Amino acid sequence: MEEQPGGNRGRAALWSRVGESKIIRALAPAQKTAENYLLMIYPIVKYGNPVLEKPAEPVTEFNDELKKLVEDMFESMYEAKGVGLAAPQIGISKRLAVIDVSFKEDPSAKLVLANPEIIHKEGKQTQSEGCLSIPEFREQVTRAKTVTIRAQDANGEWYEKTGEELLARAFLHETDHLSGKLYISHISALKRDLMKRKIRKLMKAGEW
Ligand code: NI
Repeated sequence: MEEQPGGNRGRAALWSRVGESKIIRALAPAQKTAENYLLMIYPIVKYGNPVLEKPAEPVTEFNDELKKLVEDMFESMYEAKGVGLAAPQIGISKRLAVIDVSFKEDPSAKLVLANPEIIHKEGKQTQSEGCLSIPEFREQVTRAKTVTIRAQDANGEWYEKTGEELLARAFLHETDHLSGKLYISHISALKRDLMKRKIRKLMKAGEW
């Protein structure tokens, strides 16, 4: 999910734009040693790629490879100025997503969602919503205001968490991604068709 307008945009703008896949050297936050780790910044897959519209496969192995992927997903999300990123958005069809609605402000806000399920929804909120895979577009989307998920963390431990407002929205948006569903399925057919037409134009012009 894209950052809300306002928010941390100033700081986020310090990060360079997402382009081709690249590798950066950084300290893995989980490690207290001074060892360097190679982090991979993945390019974000855009709307039109079929990987975004097919249900992803469950995560079955919680090994070092998965932990590395999770760290890479956080870095790729921050680089793209997002507050949520699902694995299909980097071309990996796995039921895995990362969320940080604090955008690096609060380390405890970093959430790993492996095999997430929505177990409770309550209330309503209508806010502007965007998606890193549909850049430059935003629409008003009505969703539940309070949402509880059940998911596994990077170690495979099950947990439950309730989020409100932006976090509730992120839970729904990212879990949707893992079912091959995009936020535009929650807007009117008229607005969706208009958006698709604009995107097709951009594709034709080679700007997508
Ligand atoms: Ni998205």
